[in-house]
Amino acid sequence: MSGTTGKKAVLTLNDKNIELPIYSGTLGPDVIDVKDVLAQDYFTFDPGFMATSSCESKITFIDGDKGVLLHRGYPIAQLAEKADYLEVCYLLLNGELPTAAQKKEFDALVMNHTMVHDQLRKFFEGFRRDAHPMAVMCGVVGALSAFYHDGLDVADPKHREITAIRLIAKIPTIAAMSYKYTVGQPFMYPRNDLDYAENFLHMMFATPADRDYKVNPILAKAMDRIFTLHADHEQNASTSTVRMAGSTGANPYACIAAGIAALWGPAHGGANEAVLKMLDEIGTIENVAPFMEKVKTKEVKLMGFGHRVYKNFDPRAKVMKQTCDEVLEALGINDPQLALAMELEKIALSDPYFIERKLYPNVDFYSGIILKAIGIPTSMFTVIFALARTVGWISHWLEMHSAPYKIARPRQLYTGPAQRDFVAVDKR
Ligand code: CMC
Repeated sequence: MSGTTGKKAVLTLNDKNIELPIYSGTLGPDVIDVKDVLAQDYFTFDPGFMATSSCESKITFIDGDKGVLLHRGYPIAQLAEKADYLEVCYLLLNGELPTAAQKKEFDALVMNHTMVHDQLRKFFEGFRRDAHPMAVMCGVVGALSAFYHDGLDVADPKHREITAIRLIAKIPTIAAMSYKYTVGQPFMYPRNDLDYAENFLHMMFATPADRDYKVNPILAKAMDRIFTLHADHEQNASTSTVRMAGSTGANPYACIAAGIAALWGPAHGGANEAVLKMLDEIGTIENVAPFMEKVKTKEVKLMGFGHRVYKNFDPRAKVMKQTCDEVLEALGINDPQLALAMELEKIALSDPYFIERKLYPNVDFYSGIILKAIGIPTSMFTVIFALARTVGWISHWLEMHSAPYKIARPRQLYTGPAQRDFVAVDKR
């Protein structure tokens, strides 16, 4: 076990002292290894994993109190400013930033795998046109395992590697297809002469009829930054879901589909869609104050606010806000929803309800406004999050498979009936 300190925590159980080893990471609180309580016939109890480390990881570090987010040691603000998304993908997957030659090779490798098997198109026809694109994503990404049999041996590092690249490469194609299907436009094939974000926008917004369609570089840059800001976030609900599914030896496409499903909820990746719906419902600035009263009486939540880990400003939100300002200014958009969002933010940041609970805007508070300016419909917001997070999920899945692991199998505090005898229906 890395990080062994020699320090011990002492726990008294039934008048017996048991010593529990303490490990130190590079950063963050020390952890107490509680496995030995099992030998004393005890389980630990921590619903929602408020204080439980589920694994050892070298990928991402968050200090929620200080608002710090590091990928492989690099602060997110530096990566968002100086690196492009595929560079961050390389970093997450490999642990180091690529050299210029490695970057060129990696970009070409990813872009070389952007096409999906042509038969995959038929899957889309099984969905109603008004299906939520996240429903389509869960189904189609899971179905990839039926197409790429040559990469499904999870015990083989080469298989794991090629599957990771395929997922990162194909997810924008599937995401764009899920959009094109809902609007009834033909699917656009990927263009490998474009970069990752440009290609995604091309597949979203080009049509065969519009031969002169050119991706707006300002929007491509903003899209790339949104991808970077969502690339990974350590052991959140969807990443833990991917690790948990992976711990059974399930194939990576199935694991990523499980991650997409977990991300969909409004408390997690579904929040960006929920923020815009909330702004729509509030409608005008005059309605902000009564809405905030409802938040404080817990009738509704202020979507895009609060975080399990950040009890300070979400560092991603700071960069997202700056990107939001840049995009709106460059496009000359004066979005009334932005003014509404700013008013909500102003009130929330000065209100004791939010101050006492350390509730700050999170990444999803601003991303929706940028995505809207780019022309992405609200129902696609969480799909964009899933697209960007795929690299984080697969990096954690790869890390898990690079060392021995156990099937994830939590315990429970059972409070149902004790054992009793069955009574036949005519005797009850
Ligand atoms: N609006 C109003 N009150 C809130 C909010 C909110 N958004 N979030 C938390 N609270 C209150 C909550 O009611 C509780 O109050 P009290 O102490 O009086 O019971 C207190 O703050 C602590 O909240 P919690 O529910 O114990 O916190 P949690 O860590 O379990 O939940 C959260 C974190 C993100 C699920 C929650 O803050 C939330 O639902 N936020 C809105 C949804 C959202 O924006 N999610 C996106 C998260 S960022 C993207 C991602 O990484 O997935």
